[in-house]
Amino acid sequence: MKTLIVYATQHGCTKKISEQMKDYLGGDVTLVNLRNDSAPILKNYDRVIIGGSIHAGQIQKRVKEFCSSNLAGLMQKELGLFICCMEEGETAQKQLENAYPEELLLSAKATAYFGGAFDFGRMNFLERMIVKKVAHVKQSTSKVDFEAVHNFSKRMDRIFNPFLFLA
Ligand SMILES: Cc1cc2nc3c(=O)[nH]c(=O)nc-3n(C[C@H](O)[C@H](O)[C@H](O)COP(=O)(O)O)c2cc1C
Repeated sequence: MKTLIVYATQHGCTKKISEQMKDYLGGDVTLVNLRNDSAPILKNYDRVIIGGSIHAGQIQKRVKEFCSSNLAGLMQKELGLFICCMEEGETAQKQLENAYPEELLLSAKATAYFGGAFDFGRMNFLERMIVKKVAHVKQSTSKVDFEAVHNFSKRMDRIFNPFLFLA
């Protein structure tokens, strides 16, 4: 099983999550950063996991474009979708649903939000100001749920076995 994890990141949190997921999944996993790497060839992979982070309510444009221009191909794959964000609960779930096309959300084997991080060292002046004003956070903080990343990876690895219903 060949897996592609394709992601976009502003300050590295989604990259870190993607790398951890690669370790959890094991096997033949390719990581592609949509900003730096050349576009992946989907037909080379059985399984595709897409991730991005939320800024001002939106996932990166690159992730949206990747999804819309590969919609038909992605529907044929074993698919996983995730976001990295600081909101929790219902708001995080809404951001997840807003980030990906409905068709992909419906056909995905696993979807999740994993929390995120505020990394002041990597933010520009404007971002720092927004985070201080809107989130009332003044220093770097991380609340990535790596257990959720592990569970997501396990869900992606689960094999559907119809005979289990007979047991
Ligand atoms: C300027 C700015 C705006 C943000 N807006 C949101 C937001 O609307 N909703 C949210 O849940 N998180 C928001 N976040 C938190 C990011 O999603 C979080 O920092 C995430 O870990 C970033 O991941 P990345 O480093 O992979 O880009 C924002 C962060 C910054 C710096």
